Amino acid sequence: MIQSVEDKKYAPIGVFDSGVGGLTVAREIMRQLPEERIIYFGDTARVPYGSKSKETITLYSRQIIRFLESKGVKAIVVACNTASAFALETIRPEMKIPIIGVVKPGAKVAAETTITGRIGVIGTEGTIGSQIYTKTIKEHNPDATVLGKACPLFVPLVEEGWLKDPVTIEVAKRYLEFFQKSDIDTLILGCTHYPLLRSTIRGIMGEKVNLVNPAYETAQGLKRLLAEHRLTNDGADTRDVPMYQFYVSDAAEKFKNFANSILPCEIEEARLIHIEE
Ligand code: DGL
Repeated sequence: MIQSVEDKKYAPIGVFDSGVGGLTVAREIMRQLPEERIIYFGDTARVPYGSKSKETITLYSRQIIRFLESKGVKAIVVACNTASAFALETIRPEMKIPIIGVVKPGAKVAAETTITGRIGVIGTEGTIGSQIYTKTIKEHNPDATVLGKACPLFVPLVEEGWLKDPVTIEVAKRYLEFFQKSDIDTLILGCTHYPLLRSTIRGIMGEKVNLVNPAYETAQGLKRLLAEHRLTNDGADTRDVPMYQFYVSDAAEKFKNFANSILPCEIEEARLIHIEE
């Protein structure tokens, strides 16, 4: 069936992540683009992505994009830093619909707002090892100095719900010690789970370091991208279609509970699918 431009702007946006982390990006899209429908996929069976290879993450991302396209999405948000780092540029030329990741928007704002030119980035082993934040920041600010630190224990701690637990604070102190004498004025939370640790990180880094949450900038970037492609939902569609739908590859109940603890809306169901089929 050929969709008219009119139909297309009422189609949902596909958002995916390795699991629950991308909900911090979905939450930001819900806040900034309240007319937009979302279909979210969390790859809860194969999380974490942060310790896997570029080849594996590219394969997983392709499978998920195929699934989201089968649901008729009009654009895709790669709401995972590791997938944005490893797979986005390989997959972009294969796409017929617009796609945006979380790395570029976060890197750009950090590059443009730093005063000292000294920027810290925290993320998964994959994201930090790929050096993507360093490369992207330098495209916007060639004189910037970028210091990256992988913080692999943050993801399981967030998934456990230990956001302000003394154990989490201790782990955060150990990781963030790395930046103590580095004189950074900006720290990018380069993993989708980390905004949930914002107040713990703020407590350790102090008020003088600007914490950049790429989710916020990604939602802004998505807004621009939809406008450029004339795909912005004007809210005039009266079809009875759910605003938000959630799919996962495992542990649907756990996902649902987590989602309900951080999203501005109540989700009734997360549907289980077999993404490899
Ligand atoms: N969503 C991932 C990211 O932003 C973190 C979790 C994982 O390792 O899969 O990099």
